[in-house]
Amino acid sequence: MELKINGQSRQVEVEADTPLLWVIRDDLGMTGTKYGCGVAQCGACTVWIDGQAQRSCVMPVSAVQGREVVTIEEIESDPVGKRVVQAWIRQQVPQCGYCQSGQVMAATALLKQFPNPTDEQIESAMTNLCRCGTYSDIAAAVREAAQA
Ligand code: FES
Ligand code: FES
Repeated sequence: MELKINGQSRQVEVEADTPLLWVIRDDLGMTGTKYGCGVAQCGACTVWIDGQAQRSCVMPVSAVQGREVVTIEEIESDPVGKRVVQAWIRQQVPQCGYCQSGQVMAATALLKQFPNPTDEQIESAMTNLCRCGTYSDIAAAVREAAQA
């Protein structure tokens, strides 16, 4: 099966119903995308599919054939993604860091859709869970990236 991921075509030998998350991590060796819950609740596995933030743990790999997949490894090649990462660093958002690649993917997708989001838009887009409770720093970094 051929996948378009981070601007490249990659061949993978996997069952059609394998979750995209495992193809990214195990077959393609990109470990920035994390496994948290496996049931589309926590957002640790968030990637972009055709520019939309999606939870890859419940996405069969066959569903993304011919679509553009982007992972955290490529986020800084996007100008908005680069700004988000810089704001994340300046605000020192991560604690343990486990949830943060998913958070950055969700935040960047939000800012590409709404360059100056309202607090309500931030709240409704940033549904990723963080066990370390970095939510207020995440909101501050999203606001900083929006204004940058
Ligand atoms: S691992 Fe996919 S949403 Fe939690
Ligand atoms: S920084 Fe630890 S889970 Fe979010």
